Amino acid sequence: MRENLKEIEKEALKRVDGVASVAGLETVRAKYLGRKGELTLLLRSLYKLPETERKVVGQKANELKVKLEKAIEAKKNLFLKGTFKGQLEQEWLDVTQPGEKFKVGSLHPVTKIIKELSDIFSSMGYEIAEGPEAEDDYHNFEALNMPPEHPARDAWDTFYLTNGLVMRTHTTSVDVRVLEKRKPPLRIFIPGRVYRYEAEDATHLSVLHQLDGFVVDKNISFSDLKGTLISVMQILLGKNIKVRFRPSFFPFTEPSAEVDVSCVMCGGKGCRSCGGDGWLELLGSGMIHPQVLRNVGLDPKEYSGFAFGMGLDRLAMLKYKIDDVREFMKGDLRFLNQF
Ligand code: DAH
Repeated sequence: MRENLKEIEKEALKRVDGVASVAGLETVRAKYLGRKGELTLLLRSLYKLPETERKVVGQKANELKVKLEKAIEAKKNLFLKGTFKGQLEQEWLDVTQPGEKFKVGSLHPVTKIIKELSDIFSSMGYEIAEGPEAEDDYHNFEALNMPPEHPARDAWDTFYLTNGLVMRTHTTSVDVRVLEKRKPPLRIFIPGRVYRYEAEDATHLSVLHQLDGFVVDKNISFSDLKGTLISVMQILLGKNIKVRFRPSFFPFTEPSAEVDVSCVMCGGKGCRSCGGDGWLELLGSGMIHPQVLRNVGLDPKEYSGFAFGMGLDRLAMLKYKIDDVREFMKGDLRFLNQF
C-alpha cells in the first residue's frame, strides 16, 4: 500500500501539472479525491492493514490528500487569475471617449405640412376630422351635387372597387359625413390620403394627400372665405406672399374660386416652377352649394358656409423645393433624412 501511495502521488501531481483548464482540474480531483477516487478508496481500505502499519500509511495518505488539494487549488487560482486578466483586457473600456450618436428619425415632408396646417387651423378654432378612404358613391359624388352620370364626375379619375365603393378622390367626402352628424356652427379641417387613377410622373401621383376644410354657420360670406385663406397662406408661406382668387367651377360650391399664390420660387417674376406666369394654383374653394346643405338636412336660408381643398404633396414640394413628387413615396432614407 505504501508503494501504491507513492505511485498515486507521483501520477496525481504530474496530472495536476499537465492540466490546461479549470475543467481539467476537476477531472483530476474526481479521479483521486472524488467519492470513488483512487486516494479515497485507498483511505477507505486502510482497515485491512495491521494497526501499526495502518497508522503510518494513514497519516501519509492524509498528508497526500491535503497536498493534492492544495496543488489543485493553487493551479486553479493561477487559471482564474489568467482568465480574469484576459477578461480585463477584452472588456477594457475607455470611459473618457465621447458617446456614439444614435440616429433620430425625421418627419416625412407631407407629415410636416399636415402638422403645420393642423397648428394653423387649430389656432383659428377649427377641429380635425377623418373619414374612410374606401368611400361610397354617395359621399364622394352624389351628396356633393354630382348624381350618377353627371358629367362633372369626369374631373376625378376614379378607382372603382368591386364591392361598389370607390377609393375617395378627395377629402371633400368627409365634409358631407361631418355635416350629416353634427349641427353648426362648425369649423372643420380634414387632412387625408386620396386616390386618382392617374399615370404617375414628376408632378402626378395616384395616391396623394389633400386637406379640406369648411365653416358652416349663420351669415358666413365670401369675405370670410377670402380672409381665412389669405391668413392661412401667409402664415404657411410667409407674410410677403400674394394671394389671388380666380372664378372657377365645382359642383359642390357656388360661387367657386381657385386660389393662387405668388410663386414661392421666384417671388412672382416667373420661373419654371410657376410655368412663367408668377402664380401657383394651390386651392379650390367656394361657398357651399345650397343643394349640398339640403342634402345634409340644413336649410340654406338659415345657414351658409364656405369650403376649400388643397393638395398637400404639391404644397410640400413648393415649401421644401422638391422637384419630383415620386420621391414622397419611395421611402429612400437619403431623401427623407434631409427633413
Ligand atoms: N375636392 C376638390 C378637388 O379634389 C377640391 C375642392 C374644391 C375642395 C372646392 C373643396 C372646395 O372643399 O370647396 O379638386
